[in-house]
Amino acid sequence: MQKINGINEHMRKILAVETSCDDTSVALVKEDGFVIFNKVVDQNFVHQPYGGVVPELASRNHAHYLLPLIEEALTESNHAWKDIDFLAVTNRPGLVGSLIVGLVTVKTLSLLIDKPYIAVNHIEGHILSSFLWDRETKPADLKFPFLCLIVSGGHTHLFKVEDFGKYFLLSQTVDDAAGEVLDKVARMMGLEYPGGAEIDRISKSVQLGKYVFPKIKLKENNLNFSFSGLKTFAVDLIQKTDIQKNKGLIPYLCADFQESVMEQIISRLNESITRFDFKSVIIAGGVSANSRLREKAKSWADKRNIHLVLPPLRYCTDNAAMIGMAGIKLFERGFQSDRELNCYPHSLPGDFLK
Ligand code: KG4
Ligand code: ZN
Repeated sequence: MQKINGINEHMRKILAVETSCDDTSVALVKEDGFVIFNKVVDQNFVHQPYGGVVPELASRNHAHYLLPLIEEALTESNHAWKDIDFLAVTNRPGLVGSLIVGLVTVKTLSLLIDKPYIAVNHIEGHILSSFLWDRETKPADLKFPFLCLIVSGGHTHLFKVEDFGKYFLLSQTVDDAAGEVLDKVARMMGLEYPGGAEIDRISKSVQLGKYVFPKIKLKENNLNFSFSGLKTFAVDLIQKTDIQKNKGLIPYLCADFQESVMEQIISRLNESITRFDFKSVIIAGGVSANSRLREKAKSWADKRNIHLVLPPLRYCTDNAAMIGMAGIKLFERGFQSDRELNCYPHSLPGDFLK
């Protein structure tokens, strides 16, 4: 990345692309975070038979969907290429084959329309998703510093956010991500992919408390997450109860398993607040769409007098609008990406501060 000078006076518009996993998404975002257009094409039906994302199929489908979706973004929102000031694309972390489709497309467009492009860390996109607003929502009233929890299929990261670009990583999962364990346990029960949303839906039909899950204890001075013990406990229950022959037990197991995951998340938030005295907390990423987590987080925040921000569901799961938002803030700090840039399965040194 290199610094650029010269900032136009008018409200800039950015076209953003997200292809880090199995969702193809394109958005058009104004520099104040207003989302003009944001559409996600999921590939759930493609990966459903395999119970998880098949990287090769994900990249092929991005190649199929991406250009028509970009055309749709411009046509639907009544914009032409001349109206676009710059482009943004996720180039890390994620499935490399998927990322390449987005990156090469955006690099090529950047050459064609002669406008800069900016490569974005997907997690930074999730962190900044709360700054997005649209015709249905107002901009969130957010002041730095705040605590930000990113809970998704690939990540469970807790950040102290001091400013745009100043993300201090406080803790993360030492094993599976929260969404990953929800998806894996759902798969073991024969539920539809992606399992997190299915567990959420099914859990609503029953009372909690049939199964008692263990509490995963924190070591002193350790805010890390660990979900693999809960997963093993759930898998044992699935096997012991012979769940496929006793399908009536599935909602109970879902509800108590989900509760144990969400309880751990709330307990880490609580511990962080006690230690660092944050006034505002943001929870984002796919798992933040979980209705039980949202309910528990709201009542916890009320009790502790915390200003809690939960992005609308459409900006919780993967979407290009959040990549546009991160791109805008990078551009404002004077960054643009060069044509040799590659994509990476992991975050890069310097993305997050310690
Ligand atoms: O942020 P995201 O779309 O992709 C990643 O960056 O990983 O998150 C996807 C994850 C999946 O694990 C999915 O099961 C989970 O978010 N998820 C949910 C819900 N909706 C999506 N988990 C629990 N409850 C939901 N309602
Ligand atoms: Zn994500």
